[in-house]
Amino acid sequence: MEKFTLSNGVEIPAVGYGTYLTSEQDDGTVAAALAAGYRHFDTASFYGTEQALGDALKAAGVPREELFLTSKLWKDEMGYENALAAFERSLQKLGTDYLDLYLIHWPRTDDLTAEWRQLDRDTWRALEELYRAGRVRAIGVSNFLPHHLRNLMETAEIAPMVNQIEFHPGYPQTWNVEFCKAHGILPEAWSPLGRTRVLQDERLAGIAAKYGKTVAQLCVRFALQCGVVPLPKSSSPARMKANLDVFDFVISDEDMDRILTLPQFGWSGLHPDYPKADID
Ligand code: A2P
Repeated sequence: MEKFTLSNGVEIPAVGYGTYLTSEQDDGTVAAALAAGYRHFDTASFYGTEQALGDALKAAGVPREELFLTSKLWKDEMGYENALAAFERSLQKLGTDYLDLYLIHWPRTDDLTAEWRQLDRDTWRALEELYRAGRVRAIGVSNFLPHHLRNLMETAEIAPMVNQIEFHPGYPQTWNVEFCKAHGILPEAWSPLGRTRVLQDERLAGIAAKYGKTVAQLCVRFALQCGVVPLPKSSSPARMKANLDVFDFVISDEDMDRILTLPQFGWSGLHPDYPKADID
């Protein structure tokens, strides 16, 4: 598996397996993902999948150092003390004594009128402490826009290494990705397949066909070529494998441009600063 390198030199497998919406009980999905070749697993306290993931990894007996494990603290786990406690809970459920990457899941709580600037900074101090103590190999954020990142970085002693955002054709958040890269922050893509909303698109189908690939594979490859770590989800062993079979073709510059300049479609409607929008 190819790798990206974080700003602190830590290597991260280029494609990860997303566990949002997988079963809260070990149902064989993780074993199938391991068999397909995934070693990078993305979870979060909010997903309710940490325990099942931890149990399945333990049962599979893959050496811990061969795995790259990410988790995230939820909106109600923000603040300095809360974040430290949330981290311990995640470790316990995952059955490990360190994480490879720990993220703040969203920059704001559900109460969008609440003051978020100080809360983000306090939460970040806890992550910095965990990082300095060697409890986690890298720290970062998720769903942050440039103004959230700027606020954090004003007082941060350690800059975030990752920002995990919604990213797929039709919603590549180019301005945010470019901001992250300019600040040494590696972007990761949640919903790199637009949770299937973009898979029927005829324009993408036409491009994918040129390379003898499916639209899903085109989406995964598109993220990689944008310098973004895709975290596709699938419950099917065949599709898990297919989503990793993306290292034998290169999307041309022209096709990358065509994809990057498609008008917005397939957006989830989730925005960190506003209530969910009901758009396509
Ligand atoms: P399934 O679990 O049946 O494979 P995202 O990662 O963007 O959130 O998308 C996840 C969705 O995409 C799931 O519904 C998953 O369904 C589907 N999916 C994953 N891989 C593929 C693929 N290669 N082809 C078609 N659908 C896929």
